[in-house]
Amino acid sequence: MKLYLAPMEGVIDHHLRNILTNIGAYHRCVTEFVRVTDKLLPEQVFHRICPELKHGSQTASGTPVTIQLLGGIAEAMAENARLAVELGATAIDINFGCPSRFVNRKAGGAVLLKEPERIFKIAAAVRKAVPMRVPVSAKIRLGYESTDLALENALAVEAANASFITVHARTKLDGYNYPARWEWLGKINDALSIPVVANGDINSVDDYVRCRELSACQDFMLGRGAVAQPDLARQIAAAQSQNIATPMRWDEVNSLIIGLAKAMQAQPQTNAIRILGRLKQWLVFLKKQYPEAAALFTEFRHVKQISQADELLLKHS
Ligand SMILES: Cc1cc2nc3c(=O)[nH]c(=O)nc-3n(C[C@H](O)[C@H](O)[C@H](O)COP(=O)(O)O)c2cc1C
Repeated sequence: MKLYLAPMEGVIDHHLRNILTNIGAYHRCVTEFVRVTDKLLPEQVFHRICPELKHGSQTASGTPVTIQLLGGIAEAMAENARLAVELGATAIDINFGCPSRFVNRKAGGAVLLKEPERIFKIAAAVRKAVPMRVPVSAKIRLGYESTDLALENALAVEAANASFITVHARTKLDGYNYPARWEWLGKINDALSIPVVANGDINSVDDYVRCRELSACQDFMLGRGAVAQPDLARQIAAAQSQNIATPMRWDEVNSLIIGLAKAMQAQPQTNAIRILGRLKQWLVFLKKQYPEAAALFTEFRHVKQISQADELLLKHS
């Protein structure tokens, strides 16, 4: 079994990748998407989204990091994938699932699921552009408005010689609201010979067990559940080997939040508003698992300065 930490734009940046992968059990994590238009991007874009490039494309705990590219022009995607590898990327993922209206209007992300032949063209161009030692994967949804092309799109990714495919078991129309349709993961897994990584609504050990039973997938990607419950991967890995991992206590989680605050403060270009925004954002996720996070969030709402945030975090530890 392989567990992947999902890409989450604006939420799982390199700081959170560091913190979550350090807890353990992740095989790989994936960056937020790098938006590719029709040009070769400046190198600093790759370094901003994936500072791990300068550290062997690994997080501090040694978990490999995959760079995710999003775009609709095969040649530009290929050129940028080549550049990413020159800069040190060890794996490339292609985003065919982003529901953002802005991104979709510019022919990137989920809108491409209406055109399986274009999915093939983009994935094949990226695959050909980088050495075979660099795995190329794609992350899809089940479709744009319907699931009609789900199998065709997945088969297009396989035909492009991708190493594996991640399937977020929702259409773009489903957004994030409706329950993930795990039964589709099974259908796609049956039809493909490359590994299918199951994604969507795996928020607990029970979810993992049910999703595995329904899909027969061996590999799983954790998104919002992993942000809400920082040791979710560790718990799933323990369950897989018939063990039980003691769930993380609130004081341990609070130390992680302090760690995020410190890591962000150590970067001189990061301003206080951004840091406070990120801390509050994480608390919103953590509230789902930890009542203590809800109490802390209430007090945090009035915080305007970093020093106040530091004091609050210490008080709640
Ligand atoms: C705030 C947010 C940002 C996301 N950003 C990305 C992204 O950059 N690339 C991507 O492929 N998926 C992105 N996703 C989708 C997640 O990777 C994942 O597929 C989705 O949340 C379903 O998994 P989950 O139920 O475990 O969260 C994002 C999701 C959220 C909620």
